[in-house]
Amino acid sequence: MSDAPPPTSAREGAERLVLSALEGRVLTVTLNRPERKNALTLAMYDALTAALRGAAEDPAVRAVVLRGAGGCFTSGNDLQDFMRSPPKSHDTPVFHFLAALLEFPKPLIAAVEGPAVGIGTTLLLHCDLAFAAEGASFQLPFGRLGLVPEGGSSYLLPLMVGHRRAAELLLLGERFGADDAARLGVINAAWPAEGFAARVAERAAAVAALPPEATRLSKQLLKAPFRDELARVMRAEGEVFIGRLGSPENAEAFMAFAQKRAPDFSRF
Ligand code: COA
Repeated sequence: MSDAPPPTSAREGAERLVLSALEGRVLTVTLNRPERKNALTLAMYDALTAALRGAAEDPAVRAVVLRGAGGCFTSGNDLQDFMRSPPKSHDTPVFHFLAALLEFPKPLIAAVEGPAVGIGTTLLLHCDLAFAAEGASFQLPFGRLGLVPEGGSSYLLPLMVGHRRAAELLLLGERFGADDAARLGVINAAWPAEGFAARVAERAAAVAALPPEATRLSKQLLKAPFRDELARVMRAEGEVFIGRLGSPENAEAFMAFAQKRAPDFSRF
């Protein structure tokens, strides 16, 4: 069953909250809600899904760069939104976005400045290239929020960094920096903040200058060995995640965030 769509005003607002700009053959998609650290609302997921689907179809777009405005990538799902309208099925904006990410056929490049939390880090695992500016931070706080890994991270992260390190990152959910992310292979490189945008633009232009059909087929081949398994894991994670939202552990974690205090899980 489909959850109700976001109200019209929220949809219109999302045009400001997710910006798309085509320069040459590179589409830059910017999360633009800096006052909330680019926390993603339902309407923003819809706008992101539309941007990816549009870019997939548009022959003028050869590569997409995903970034956040205001020196922050994204603080992940808007926690108030999660409390107000938790997804109750896979037919909801967050899962539509994850599906669009899984299926996106062209090179997708992440440019991370500042925090990348929750889905802000898991979406990087789907990107073909990811770069971070000095000072960027990464965090997968699902466990400490009473939730479970999402977006295929329980599969992709061990694949990338090995089970031992993935368990540390996903269970403890502690923040790690750009150098660690580069060392682990979660991103391609950590670069100085100065000149970061220009370096990303150079890489994106290089990718966009490649023969598009060969690039599309190469991406498909790179992902083909695990694509079906990844889709299956994403669905299984989603089921458990939906069940965890609103659980007593999760309610305590979200309440603690709203009240700006440390959560207390001692009674569970
Ligand atoms: N959902 C809703 N609001 C959020 C948010 C989120 N995911 N992340 C930040 N905000 C809000 C804060 O509540 C704060 O609001 P306020 O000005 O009314 O107090 C505002 O955005 C600025 O955030 P703040 O925490 O003051 O910025 P910071 O630079 O000190 O820290 C983060 C930035 C991203 C590290 C921190 O905000 C954070 O950890 N956010 C929660 C991330 C999270 O758990 N995401 C969910 C993953 S499933």
